[in-house]
Parts: sequence; structure tokens; C-alpha cells
Amino acid sequence: MTETQKNTAEDRKNAPESRQSATDAPVLVLGATGKTGRRIVPRLRAAGHTVRAASRSGETRFDWNERSTWAPVLSGVRALYLVAPEDPDPVVDFVAQAAAAGVRRFVVLSGRGTHVSGEAFLPGMARAERAVEEAGVDWTVIRANNFAQNFSEDFFHAPLLAGRLALPVGDTPEPFVDVEDIADVAVALLTQDGHTRRVYELSGPRALTYAEAVAEIAAASGRPMRYEPITPEQFRAELTAADVPDAFAEELTALFVFVEEGHLSPVATGVREVLGREARDFTEYVKAAAAAGAWR
Ligand SMILES: NC(=O)c1ccc[n+]([C@@H]2O[C@H](COP(=O)([O-])OP(=O)(O)OC[C@H]3O[C@@H](n4cnc5c(N)ncnc54)[C@H](OP(=O)(O)O)[C@@H]3O)[C@@H](O)[C@H]2O)c1
Repeated sequence: MTETQKNTAEDRKNAPESRQSATDAPVLVLGATGKTGRRIVPRLRAAGHTVRAASRSGETRFDWNERSTWAPVLSGVRALYLVAPEDPDPVVDFVAQAAAAGVRRFVVLSGRGTHVSGEAFLPGMARAERAVEEAGVDWTVIRANNFAQNFSEDFFHAPLLAGRLALPVGDTPEPFVDVEDIADVAVALLTQDGHTRRVYELSGPRALTYAEAVAEIAAASGRPMRYEPITPEQFRAELTAADVPDAFAEELTALFVFVEEGHLSPVATGVREVLGREARDFTEYVKAAAAAGAWR
């Protein structure tokens, strides 16, 4: 099935009434199979937009490390959702190539505190922010807290199923952000005017400690689970024992030490600023994920 056929089928199914308002030039979603991308793609299509959903294993093949895949995904694109690569090296060239190909609007997914941490860990995000700022394009940056969905779809999930989530974050609270809110915000930023050269910080409406978060999930799922605060050294050693490569173990440790220092603790207002509504509470996320069987 071609991209146009896919979109047409999706459009008819989802939102025939809104097709008139969309332009035909595609919106490119990178990381389209990831936690944010796979929620953004159907929202855009439901609103009548043509979408190119790109990643190594997704509908349209795109690989940061294979430059021959870049030009085909960029052709004719009007707006782009950028999930940064782990290795920051290709980002500047990619953004330049995208700008030269006529992409005018860039929405970059980044992390809370990136303006403080810079490229100290997970450097792709800071490099992507800088790349769009320096490329002379319309850009908007999303700086998100740790996702609530990390507990059900990413690196907190397996430890929770095993009954113990151990992190070097002490009792520092964090207002985890629901990925459903990030997707709603990203769609607005990709398709509406008025957000150029803005940085939006996205969090949930309430900061809670990791112990509180795990206790909520344990109660909702009926499984025994606990949070254990450990030192950065213990954390790094546990990652190494689990065969995580040294460099990545180092980066993850630095990330959680940064969390422990409280840089991500204040509640942010980006969801309200962009969407005019409050962010989804962690409890709502836990109920929905538990009902969907996330921790069965
Ligand atoms: N998790 C958090 O709490 C958090 C908080 C703030 C910011 N962030 C940032 O969010 C980003 C991750 O976004 P996400 O959670 O939506 O995605 P994700 O669930 O981590 O999935 C990664 C996506 O990137 C694609 N990908 C991986 N390697 C690739 C490559 N070499 N070339 C092209 N595509 C590649 C994957 O698809 P394929 O495997 O099909 O290629 C997948 O779609 C990271 O930059 C992270 O630092 C995360």
C-alpha cells in the first residue's frame, strides 16, 4: 500500500469531515513506532493530515545512520517531528538537509533541564535543539519530564514486573508526564501557527516520589512491587551486571543523578499553555494502564 493509500484509508475511517482543512504535503514523524510517535501518527491522520511515519522498522524506512534514507523521507514534507538519535552526530546535517528540502516547521522532543545538562548525557536532544535554532527554520521545542509510560512501556517496566525498581533518585519527587499529553501537544505544535521559537516544558500536574508512583502501580495492579533507593555506584553496577554497555550505563546514571538533584521536580505548565487544559494525572494513567493489562 502506498503512503497516499494508507492515509486515505485512515482518513476515511477516522475523520472524513476534517479532510478539507488539511493540506496534502505530508507531516514527517520520526520515531514513529516509539512511545510518542505511535500516538502522534494516528492523531494527525484522524485530523485529516497526510503523515509519513518513519523509523527503521516502520511504514517508511528511515535510519539516522544510513544517510541514503534521508532524502526520500524528506521529499515534499512541510512539518517534521524530530525524535533525536542516541548518537548526536547526524542531527545537524539532517536538519540542514531537511531545511534545504523545504521543511519549514520542526518540532523537537527534548527533556526537562536540557538547558542545564547540555550534552552531559543523552546528548542527541541538546544537539537537536541547537541544530534547529541555528538552521533558520521555524522550530518549537518540547522539554518533557520522565514519561509516566516508562513504568509500563519502557525501562521501568521489567523491573516492576520483577517486583523491584531500584534507582539513584532518593525521595526526590517528579511530575511524570503522560505520553498522551505529549502527543496532543505535538500535534498542536505541528499543525497550528503561533508556536514558533517557543520552548514548552511538559509535566504532569503533580510531583510524586518514585516510591509513591510504584506504590500506586502496585495497588492498581495487585502485584507486589517496591521502589528501592540506591547509590549511583550501585545503579551503575546493576546496569553493568545486566549487560548494559558501559557508555550507556554512565549516561543513565548521570540522568538519574540529575533527577535526584531536583532539576525535574517543579510542575511545568506547557500542557495548559498549548492545549488550554490541565495535564493528565498519574493516577489516571495508572488506572488506564492497569485496566489494559500493563502489569498483569
Ligand atoms: N522516556 C522518557 O521519559 C523521556 C523523557 C524526555 C525525553 N525523552 C526523549 O524521547 C526520545 C525518545 O522518544 P520516544 O520515547 O517517543 O521513542 P522510543 O519509544 O524511545 O522509541 C525510539 C524510536 O526511535 C526509532 N529509532 C531508534 N533508532 C533509530 C535509528 N537509528 N534511526 C531511525 N529511527 C530510530 C525507533 O524505531 P525503530 O526501532 O523502528 O527504528 C522508535 O520509533 C529520546 O530522545 C529521549 O531522550 C524521553
